[in-house]
Amino acid sequence: MQMTLPLAGFVQETVDPALDIYAEIARLKQEKNVVLLAHYYQEPAIQDIADFIGDSLGLSRHAASTDADIILFAGVHFMAETAKILNPAKKVILPDLNAGCSLADSCPADAFADFRERHPDHLVISYINCTAGVKALSDIICTSTNAEHLVRQISESQPILFAPDRNLGRWLIRQTGRDMKVWDGACIVHETFSERKLVGLKVQYPQALVLAHPECETPILRHADFIGSTSAIRRHARESEASQFIVATEEGILHQMRKDCPGKQFIPAPPESGCNCSQCPHMRLNTLEKVYLCLKHEQPEITLEEELRLRALTPIERMMAMSAGVS
Ligand code: 13P
Ligand code: SF4
Repeated sequence: MQMTLPLAGFVQETVDPALDIYAEIARLKQEKNVVLLAHYYQEPAIQDIADFIGDSLGLSRHAASTDADIILFAGVHFMAETAKILNPAKKVILPDLNAGCSLADSCPADAFADFRERHPDHLVISYINCTAGVKALSDIICTSTNAEHLVRQISESQPILFAPDRNLGRWLIRQTGRDMKVWDGACIVHETFSERKLVGLKVQYPQALVLAHPECETPILRHADFIGSTSAIRRHARESEASQFIVATEEGILHQMRKDCPGKQFIPAPPESGCNCSQCPHMRLNTLEKVYLCLKHEQPEITLEEELRLRALTPIERMMAMSAGVS
């Protein structure tokens, strides 16, 4: 058996096609006392074996409170890193270390430190989609579920810097009327939805409601009947009287929406070009095979210097305290 990790970022081992991978994953999870947390943007097969599926806030809360010995995070790097920041006593493993995030990549900690220094009187609110280095330079972390709730708690006289997502930042400015300085980052999935194709779908499905994530560009959000985080979009579809929905976020969320409401129709909003799908290439680096190998070898593991972890923890704890009860 050949097992390598450092260069590839994931365990490279051929999985026997005759192996009952579901049974093996279940056995290893129980034997090692592992909790499998999965984001809505994971492929359906991974969502189906998760102990908890959720948005960034729900996943962070679960990671902080789990009594498992190992957290297997089926998501991207910043999510697993946040789990480690919140619960350092646990071993946190991620199926593929290369599962990054374009938003986190758009905001290097050293450039962000300069930006912050140029605005010393500003309070820094950072979206959770950033590195531990950027979290450590922030005053409060937010997610798409609680961002508006948090901004509304900041005194009107306090200037705010928001990073790294310009689309979420601009949406927050419109929602709250606050004049914030916004870092110029964007999500490669949400910034590529096509307004032209969305309008075409609205003509084709005139009864459909448009549900959009606030990481989408403003022209897409203008067409939305509802704007919210993944969990809010899911809940809205469940509770709505409507039976058709055009969904402008990563299409992995449609798996749970279709399970929740088998009688309703969910149509993914398409990007302008390419494969006509809206999958996050980072999220989709995780596969069932990598989940299995990650469980088997307990690698790749997320590690963090304690000094950095503690600095990154403070703004996350502020978020948790300021958004208790928000979901
Ligand atoms: P939420 O699930 O918290 O809405 O975040 C969406 C996202 O893009 C995660 O990368
Ligand atoms: Fe990052 Fe966008 Fe992928 Fe979410 S969907 S992990 S924001 S690149």
